Amino acid sequence: MWKQRGVSNACSIGELRLLAKRKLPPGIFDFFDGAAEDEVSLEENIQAFRRLRLLPRPLVDVSSVDLSTTILGARSELPIAIAPTGGPGFGRHGSDGAIARAAAEAGIPYTLSTSATASIERIAREAPGRLWFQAYILRNREFLNGLLARALAADYEALMITVDLPVGGKRERDARNRMSFPFRFSARHLRDFAFHPRWLLAMARHGMPVIENLIGLETQATSASRIASSVGRSYDPSFDWDRLKEMRDNWPRRMIVKGILHPDDADCLAAMGIDAIVVSNHGGRQLDGSVAPIDALPGVVASVAGRAEVWMDSGVRRGSDVVKACALGASAVLIGRATLFGAFAGLEEGASRAITIFADELERTMQLCGVRTVGEIGSGLIFRDSR
Ligand code: FNR
Repeated sequence: MWKQRGVSNACSIGELRLLAKRKLPPGIFDFFDGAAEDEVSLEENIQAFRRLRLLPRPLVDVSSVDLSTTILGARSELPIAIAPTGGPGFGRHGSDGAIARAAAEAGIPYTLSTSATASIERIAREAPGRLWFQAYILRNREFLNGLLARALAADYEALMITVDLPVGGKRERDARNRMSFPFRFSARHLRDFAFHPRWLLAMARHGMPVIENLIGLETQATSASRIASSVGRSYDPSFDWDRLKEMRDNWPRRMIVKGILHPDDADCLAAMGIDAIVVSNHGGRQLDGSVAPIDALPGVVASVAGRAEVWMDSGVRRGSDVVKACALGASAVLIGRATLFGAFAGLEEGASRAITIFADELERTMQLCGVRTVGEIGSGLIFRDSR
């Protein structure tokens, strides 16, 4: 329905963001772009990368560069995986599948969120790549166990547990925009949507998206909309170390914990047998004022001391950010908004464009730094002012 015009010409993730912004009603764009409270962490996540300077080592034959690496014991064509994101279908119908297929095509892992707008089974059918399932801890344990059993049955290779969301962050753009799922239409929304008839028409054509994995969560729920509105009330704020240990003991495959910033927590996770730790502040959407993950990364890497893989996310917008994260000890990064913006701008083509932009920038940055493999990206590439 929408032309993909402009997607293939987008030079940067910033340009894809602007293309997405043009296509979405402002309140919908804000839901994906925004973060908690004053959005200090959102901004800081990006600025912290910018403050880091690279110290290149030229005079190396970089005519051939290998961007591939190993993530959780299997090959990935890039040191990048797709972060779990809730609700992509609210931006554009079919976005979950589009991003998953783009990831499979690029040979990188894709994480399906509990709150995605496509089910565990739908994504397994539509995207033949490496799939991980991200679990939010629901109050209804039986339902959560059902989701984990479905992920196992559909052959998801790993479970990612997000621990930085005992309660939802305070997202003021959403409050100002009266944005809630399902929508409760108000005069304000009519004004927003009037300038985006194509978004409105697409919603009318495909129907309001549903958080498919949570259908049936409330047995008394009679409509998709009531199910969606129950999501916020469904998280379990009592989730703690004991229950995490119980889940580790019961889950037979690889387990990833996402949302860690403190080195001591990372130490405990490594001791518990967690396979990978994601240093993350949820893209600034939870605790505003939390440290930028790229700044917290070295402490976590030191504390884990090779017992688990350490990845990071939040604020990754450039291939050079990937190099900086790897130089500080991450073995991979996750990207959240970048592929969302790509998908809103041009579905699978747009999501692929986002991944290609990262791949091109990563390759060029590695060549300019004098490194030929991801393994060669070392801490010496970060400039440290010793004055
Ligand atoms: C998220 N994130 C997220 N994380 C998670 O574990 N489960 C989820 O359902 C969601 N949903 C979600 C929705 C939207 C719109 C965004 C932007 C983010 C956080 C996500 O996995 C990741 O940590 C951040 O997106 C990383 O930051 P960047 O790459 O967006 O800067």
